[in-house]
Amino acid sequence: MEIVRSVAELRACLAPRRPVAFVPTMGNLHEGHLALMRMGRPRARCLVASIFVNRLQFGPAEDFDTYPRTFEADCAGLAREGVDVVFAPLEREVYPEPQGFLVAPPPIGDELEGAFRPGFFRGVATVVLKLFNMAQPQFAVFGKKDYQQLMVVRTMVRQLNLPIEILAGETVRAADGLALSSRNSYLAAAERAEAPRLHRTLAEVCAQLVDGKKDFRKLEADAVAALTQAKWRPDYVAVRKQADLQCPGPDDRELVVLGAASLGSTRLIDNIEVSLPR
Ligand code: PAF
Repeated sequence: MEIVRSVAELRACLAPRRPVAFVPTMGNLHEGHLALMRMGRPRARCLVASIFVNRLQFGPAEDFDTYPRTFEADCAGLAREGVDVVFAPLEREVYPEPQGFLVAPPPIGDELEGAFRPGFFRGVATVVLKLFNMAQPQFAVFGKKDYQQLMVVRTMVRQLNLPIEILAGETVRAADGLALSSRNSYLAAAERAEAPRLHRTLAEVCAQLVDGKKDFRKLEADAVAALTQAKWRPDYVAVRKQADLQCPGPDDRELVVLGAASLGSTRLIDNIEVSLPR
């Protein structure tokens, strides 16, 4: 496995090894990330992972400085998965000058996560477009855990005519249902025991939807109340359409229930797709 730091090295090593499948990450890799590597592997002659903690997508009060950085362990995991190239640029390689050109996502990028993390999707879209231009992959893999991010990236690829096929990896969960996330490491033991409640709450909304309940606003409000009752600070629970994350009508069947809530000082997100029976 090669570890490259510059765009020039990356391009030189990828040029003779296409098609390339690319998995962008911010490191601190867990089983969820490794599953994305396994998804990219069969599509590509060369499997590339990037590790770059992107300052542009963090708000001023967010955890950029403390975001877990575990480069050695990450590389060991990537090598075990048969990753061919790790692109781990320094910040000055990705942002050699102040980033004046920014990729502005459509208005859906200001809802849900975007409403609570202003500028987050602009930071994500900008770095993902830059990383795509650096690696020029034929395939790129993103996890459904960050459902809205996946949708924003898919929309960018479609609307900007990027010749890249986006593959979506299923969320990997602990045995108790908690979605794997780098930020789970922030949870104290008692919080870790409580954390699966977010998934359970979203699953309960899904069960009600399958049961035929159509009052989406009430289902959302009940879920927020249940989390608040259990001493969480919920940002939102939302029933949306899978395709574009817009609010569903009564005849829409391919839905996703998304939620974000803080437990102590740790903010967790999760989502569950649900297909309603006819
Ligand atoms: O999902 C992530 O880890 C990041 O948002 C990404 C896609 C690597 C961009 O920095």
